Amino acid sequence: MERDYETVVKQIAGVVDGESDYTANLSNIAAILKTLPGYFWVGFYLVKAEQLVLGPFQGPVACTRIDFGKGVCGTAWSQKKSQLVPNVHSIPNHIACNPNSKSEVVVPIFSPEKKVIAVLDVDSDVVENFSERDVQYLEKIAAMISELQGSTV
Ligand code: SME
Repeated sequence: MERDYETVVKQIAGVVDGESDYTANLSNIAAILKTLPGYFWVGFYLVKAEQLVLGPFQGPVACTRIDFGKGVCGTAWSQKKSQLVPNVHSIPNHIACNPNSKSEVVVPIFSPEKKVIAVLDVDSDVVENFSERDVQYLEKIAAMISELQGSTV
């Protein structure tokens, strides 16, 4: 699926320009990403007191807390590495927040000191709906969010 990430990147750059509030920016970024085709759920989990805690998102109700190393999100956190899961039912370490999620991408978001401060999670209700191209663009968006960090709190 050829998603128009170039437009999304421009929209994100525009919406965060001049706004320093982290929650407001993550909320609008989730809303922009949700306009992409095949995005069933998109949102952020934030590192808080040794757990990932649900942050701004768009889509159905989701799990609120994920432990270090657990699920696809916790693995992206522990390995400091993006996770591309073509079929969530083919891996044991997947947390099913919603039975309709079939494929998933999770990318870490880093602080300037290279600590994982959050993850960006995207789910589709179709299997094999994401590719390395999606991962590359989502990593680019994660890097844009890392840049926001300094001016957020
Ligand atoms: N599937 C994720 C949990 C979060 S939800 O998909 C929104 C995981 O395995 O970490």
